[in-house]
Amino acid sequence: MEKLVIEGGARLKGKVDVSGFKNAALPIIATTILAGDKCTVENLPLIRDVFYYRDILEQLGAKATLDDKGTMRVDTTGIDNCIVENELAQKFRASYYTLGAGLGRFGKAEVMYPGGCNIGSRPIDQHIKGFEALGATVEIDHGIIKCEADRLIGNKIYLDVVSVGATINIMLAAVLAEGKTTIENAAKEPHIVDVANILNAMGANIRGAGTDVIKINGVNGLHGCTYSVIPDQIEAGTYMMAAAITGGDIIINNVIPTHLESVTAKLREMNVEVEEYGDSIRVTADDRLKGVNVKTLTYPGFPTDLQQPMSVLLSSAEGTSIVTESIFDGRFKYVDELKRMGANIKVDGRTAVIKGIERLSGARVSALDLRSGAAMVVAGLSADGITEIDNVYHIDRGYANLENKLLNLGAKITRVKE
Ligand code: UD1
Repeated sequence: MEKLVIEGGARLKGKVDVSGFKNAALPIIATTILAGDKCTVENLPLIRDVFYYRDILEQLGAKATLDDKGTMRVDTTGIDNCIVENELAQKFRASYYTLGAGLGRFGKAEVMYPGGCNIGSRPIDQHIKGFEALGATVEIDHGIIKCEADRLIGNKIYLDVVSVGATINIMLAAVLAEGKTTIENAAKEPHIVDVANILNAMGANIRGAGTDVIKINGVNGLHGCTYSVIPDQIEAGTYMMAAAITGGDIIINNVIPTHLESVTAKLREMNVEVEEYGDSIRVTADDRLKGVNVKTLTYPGFPTDLQQPMSVLLSSAEGTSIVTESIFDGRFKYVDELKRMGANIKVDGRTAVIKGIERLSGARVSALDLRSGAAMVVAGLSADGITEIDNVYHIDRGYANLENKLLNLGAKITRVKE
């Protein structure tokens, strides 16, 4: 067991480089199964979920190496099935992309029901609806999702809810299907575009990614390619909030500022200065932050993955803020942890009413999941005294080199093995 120990109060200063986007990287690794060839994927974040995926590929029979710069060289020629019996699949959510990829390449795929953060109910009915519309049969048998199809045939699929995972999984299954597939009410997140871009670089024919209608013309085969993953807007947003709450002045490099517009807009409303450059942003906070209302939405709205660190920020901002979580029904569990640090928050269903206090106070808290763990780090950086965060493995699933990046910015943070 490891924990992070933070002495709060240091103003963050300096520069930080953002890693590749976890939520793009994971399905992009899955696309290499579809390629059935040699692929090079660059700018992968060195995080647990990526290591899990590399291990899954190797167990399927691929040759995969991952260097310390985040470049994966993978040859999936040798894979002849996509039966992922390994319990690694249960450790994270994105393992379910092996279903779309395996169905597309082999007409058959099996994976253990995926894990991931405990942030409310996370059904996969829209993934199943999409696979079935393409001609597959899907059953869940003793916790294993089993998909099979003699032939996949393109179809029109309307998603009942806007789902990132379902949009990507259906795209994966459809690229090698016969004929045309249209996904309506598709998610528009930047990582949908990134996955479509790598698939197109492999020879797929996908149009409209980034809009709510994606059109896929099935092709006969794909080939390998070299591709670089987009920067992690959630990691960048976390550092923006860490700078804001500590009254810091930092430059965040390797970002695409347009991906962060909703976050930038909200921080500016709070009195945080955000300057945008080509592929970097500068975040400066001098005055006490002002409370604002925030509602999480699908892209380009405010991302649910930054709701928790944002709520931390609002906990010590002036006035009352209202945060509405419209994507996941259980994403306020961390509030009890934050209350240990003195936060004044009342949660009613999907709404949190936050009355800002002058300053949080350090306490022993838990990282309940990936993003709430990051939120506890943000809280600890600004709190009075020492904050100890346990269950750090959640944070390691999604933040590459977190404490070294923060140390370089002047934070007082150490990792302690218990
Ligand atoms: C992905 C991200 C996660 C992020 C979320 C929303 C990964 C690995 N995870 O999760 O970090 O918080 O997008 O941006 O990329 N839903 C259904 N049926 C389905 C699928 C989803 O009802 O078949 C619902 C979910 O319960 C949720 C909403 O749709 O309320 C959005 O979920 P979705 O976009 O699918 O999230 P994930 O892909 O699981």
